[in-house]
Amino acid sequence: MLALNNIETFYGGIQALKGITLNVEKGEIVTLIGSNGAGKSTALKSISGLVKAAKGSIIYKNEDITKKPPHDTALSGIAHVPEGRRIFPKLSVKENLLMGAFSVKDKREIDERMSKVFQYFPKIKERLDQKGGTMSGGEQQMLAIGRAMMMKPELLMLDEPSMGLAPIIVEQIFEIIKELNQAGITILLVEQNAYQALQIADRGYVIQTGSIKLEGLGKDLIKNNEVREAYLA
Ligand SMILES: Nc1ncnc2c1ncn2[C@@H]1O[C@H](COP(=O)(O)OP(=O)(O)OP(=O)(O)O)[C@@H](O)[C@H]1O
Ligand SMILES: [Mg+2]
Repeated sequence: MLALNNIETFYGGIQALKGITLNVEKGEIVTLIGSNGAGKSTALKSISGLVKAAKGSIIYKNEDITKKPPHDTALSGIAHVPEGRRIFPKLSVKENLLMGAFSVKDKREIDERMSKVFQYFPKIKERLDQKGGTMSGGEQQMLAIGRAMMMKPELLMLDEPSMGLAPIIVEQIFEIIKELNQAGITILLVEQNAYQALQIADRGYVIQTGSIKLEGLGKDLIKNNEVREAYLA
């Protein structure tokens, strides 16, 4: 479904990705784990087009999307839930959700998508008129995922959804990621919380200073000594 071939991405003179090659098959949960500054967010941004890869290619469903801007990758079916959630704090919860359906004109379709979001996140329904910024961290993460679901994505990319959240909320978020996957959405999950990410992932990649260090099945990586020492301590 998605293939990155030797992707190199720079911020000015800083090379954040040094030739990343990875793939995601339809229906999978694939996780990208690694420490601070390893290049995880840059990988997702390179895919969604928020930053441009300088070298290599990104192929999504047989189409070269390497140079596509973010709104085009979104229209192709790739939703990116960014690090730090990035909801609009001054807009209402409902307005935040509607942002995710920017390309949809049909009101019935919008309502259908919204009821789908409420199935996964019943709390959101109770808070529609509240300002996004007044929600708790966990609720904002759920809103950010809900907003992405409004795009009806085929590939959902999540950047550290567990960051800064209480363990019980993290459990809920990971449970919902699994459910979304079972409902047919392919998942690319970036996490520093390697243990939990590998537990739900079919496969994983370990990224270190801009390069893929290890790859394998989630269940194998979780047992791997190198992974255990570096990321599961
Ligand atoms: N806007 C930017 N300008 C300059 N350098 C950047 C920028 N964003 C990231 N970098 C650098 O690129 C490298 C990769 O950063 P990236 O944010 O992709 O890492 P990460 O794995 O997501 O880290 P974290 O776990 O902290 O989110 C780091 O060295 C970082 O300092
Ligand atoms: Mg990051």
